[in-house]
Amino acid sequence: MIFSVYHRPPEIFGQIDIKETLNRLMEPLGLRAVGSHCSLSEMDDLDLTRALDKPRLKIERKRSFDERSMSELSAGYGRHDGLYDSPRGRSVLDTPLSSARNCFEPHPMMAEAWEALRRSMVFFRGHPVGTLAAVDNTTDEVLNYDQVFVRDFVPSALAFLMNGESDIVKHFLLKTLQLQDSEKRVDRFKLGKGVMPASFKVRHDPVREMDHLVADFGETAIGRVAPVDSGFWWIILLRAYTKSTGDLTLSETPECQKGIKLILSLCLAEGFDTFPTLLCADGCSMIDRRMGVYGYPIEIQALFYMALRCALSMLKPDGDGRECIEKITKRLHALSFHMRNYFWLDHHQLNDIYRYKTEEYSHTAVNKFNVMPDSIPEWVFDFMPLRGGYFVGNVGPAHMDFRWFALGNCVSILSSLATPDQSMAIMDLLEHRWAELVGEMPLKICYPCLEGHEWRIITGCDPKNTRWSYHNGGSWPVLLWQLTAACIKTGRPQIARRAVDLIESRLHRDCWPEYYDGKLGRYVGKQARKYQTWSIAGYLVAKMLLEDPSHIGMISLEEDKLMKPVIKRSASWPQL
Ligand code: GLC
Repeated sequence: MIFSVYHRPPEIFGQIDIKETLNRLMEPLGLRAVGSHCSLSEMDDLDLTRALDKPRLKIERKRSFDERSMSELSAGYGRHDGLYDSPRGRSVLDTPLSSARNCFEPHPMMAEAWEALRRSMVFFRGHPVGTLAAVDNTTDEVLNYDQVFVRDFVPSALAFLMNGESDIVKHFLLKTLQLQDSEKRVDRFKLGKGVMPASFKVRHDPVREMDHLVADFGETAIGRVAPVDSGFWWIILLRAYTKSTGDLTLSETPECQKGIKLILSLCLAEGFDTFPTLLCADGCSMIDRRMGVYGYPIEIQALFYMALRCALSMLKPDGDGRECIEKITKRLHALSFHMRNYFWLDHHQLNDIYRYKTEEYSHTAVNKFNVMPDSIPEWVFDFMPLRGGYFVGNVGPAHMDFRWFALGNCVSILSSLATPDQSMAIMDLLEHRWAELVGEMPLKICYPCLEGHEWRIITGCDPKNTRWSYHNGGSWPVLLWQLTAACIKTGRPQIARRAVDLIESRLHRDCWPEYYDGKLGRYVGKQARKYQTWSIAGYLVAKMLLEDPSHIGMISLEEDKLMKPVIKRSASWPQL
């Protein structure tokens, strides 16, 4: 086995214990790392040599645009066009070595998945504009799964981009942007201009013989909550498109610039806030039913942070763009400080909270939010390993939701909201608590579930969110792509491979369900759709990321050096 050194883009990796990781990767190959110094580039190459053993569906890749760090951006207020132009690190599969190694068959599920993904494509006046949430022919109960959901389309879009098919993504971005412009009302109340739809569908007008788009901004969804995550995903996807295609013309259009600003104006307006986190209603994201995720849920905070950083890389510093850039920069600094300090939980921090005094006034208060130690749930003491940690579900006045949420923690890694040490700690926890968080089907949406009295009070007795089902501790295959991306970014692709193996043993056989139930995720979900598009696309994205880890640049941001945290020393960050 030859270990060659390719140039790898730095944003792929956090600062980790390279030698240890290298040894972990080499062990199965009967090798140990030598010398005390080894770059992360080398470490990844070990992995790449395996990745190269598999062929790609489409080897040709378009230029990617480079990425500026936030410090560069804030210092110069935004753009430095030259950087956009330089393609960063060619695809590893363009290297001569790769051709020699492309000798394995792809998993048969890949072809099936592509077929199913293509069957879900939606066309509008001749152009592909998205994918249906599910194409489940086993039931007549369509509900709203015959719509294109913004959040659901993200993994589809990434799969298409990774395969060099950017058209559908471009049309999607443009159509949803047009929908943002339409008037949105719930009864007599007008929604904010920047709100992006949760979903849309194509309706045919037989009289005018024309198709038109009908959007839902939350007014027809359960609970009537506007999707706060849609706008963030839209911005993140616009950057992914730009990064993957090198086509700057889309993000630079006045329409896209305006769209970004409108989305962010909803979040950056001054108000009564005392925290930089975003205050939300329950059910305003992937968990779109009452689950006690109101207030400051981690999923929204992580997406907010990532969207702010993506916006910063695309906004032009002209006119009101400059003002927006300034606001973003300030918010990012405050948000990263707040999240890294107050949402972070590891053994050390848990012990501190356990010993908190309450009723502290003044600036010197240690227990800043007046969290009552008695409110710490029993499970968390056993769950927390000595090594490892995570961002808790929610922090607000006298409120700490100790539940672990998959999406928020993965996006924290991808956006570099988590410091490199925190990212590694999140992965450590995942390895330690594999049975609880992954079990037999990746990945639990949250852990643990709510039951009994808590379930009655918090979910409002929701029969779909019973314990270990659906949003309440169910296992969602779509989360595989986020897990895989986080694994690749932290240099631990072997974890993702374990998860992919589990998916490959069941997902296709079970007809690509939306979610699984049970403590171990062993049962197809009670009311799960079959042929759920994001389960299919999530698998494809995970596979393509493992095959060509350079794709990670599309959905990952490097750490910003200016935002180095001022964080208390903790057991799981020995280097600090
Ligand atoms: C469910 C999920 C939501 C998803 C939608 C379409 O409502 O909770 O996250 O977007 O289905 O798949």
